[in-house]
Amino acid sequence: MSRAANAIRSPHCAATIARFNGPMRPRAIMALSLDDIRHLFERYGGLAYSGEPVSQLQHALQTACLAEEANARAELVVAALLHDLGHLLNLQGDTPTQRGIDDLHQYFALPFLRPLFDDAVLEPIRLHVDAKRCLCAIDASYHARLSPDSVRSLELQGGIFDDESARAFLSKPWAEDAMSLRRWDDAAKDAARVTPPLAHYLDIAARIAH
Ligand SMILES: [Fe+2]
Ligand SMILES: [Fe+2]
Repeated sequence: MSRAANAIRSPHCAATIARFNGPMRPRAIMALSLDDIRHLFERYGGLAYSGEPVSQLQHALQTACLAEEANARAELVVAALLHDLGHLLNLQGDTPTQRGIDDLHQYFALPFLRPLFDDAVLEPIRLHVDAKRCLCAIDASYHARLSPDSVRSLELQGGIFDDESARAFLSKPWAEDAMSLRRWDDAAKDAARVTPPLAHYLDIAARIAH
């Protein structure tokens, strides 16, 4: 078993996996294996997805399921599954946005996942918050459909892009994938939705992992 898997099973899990001084300054990064990712979801997937009527695991599976139903390629389905893994690696308690906390989760998981996946998985994850900021700027109806927690986090994440920032975002190589992921993300909050199990998506991840 990897050191990361042992850390996941320890009582201090998320804090033990990596002791971060800040989200961009990891002191001890341990690459996650697919088995580690399964353990993370098994241990923490039952936690509430902050401010929404689904668990973290339900949200991850629903986002991946929506990507798969849209015939997204495997890399984007896996990005959809793992886009919020940073929440499970950096536990912040109940509804951190209500305490003014932006956990920067879009960045947190990247060092752990980089040894496993290439940019086709990592970049949509990294950009999925900026995709919301951009969609609010270019789609008048998008902001109105955001959940209350997404609206709260939007402000903490820097707010709606101005025109120049939106243009700059749209010119990025993975912007389209990030915006697709974002729309599935926003729709993946249905308490009644049935999805394939985690094992189904980890099988897809195994096919594209390094
Ligand atoms: Fe997210
Ligand atoms: Fe999400």
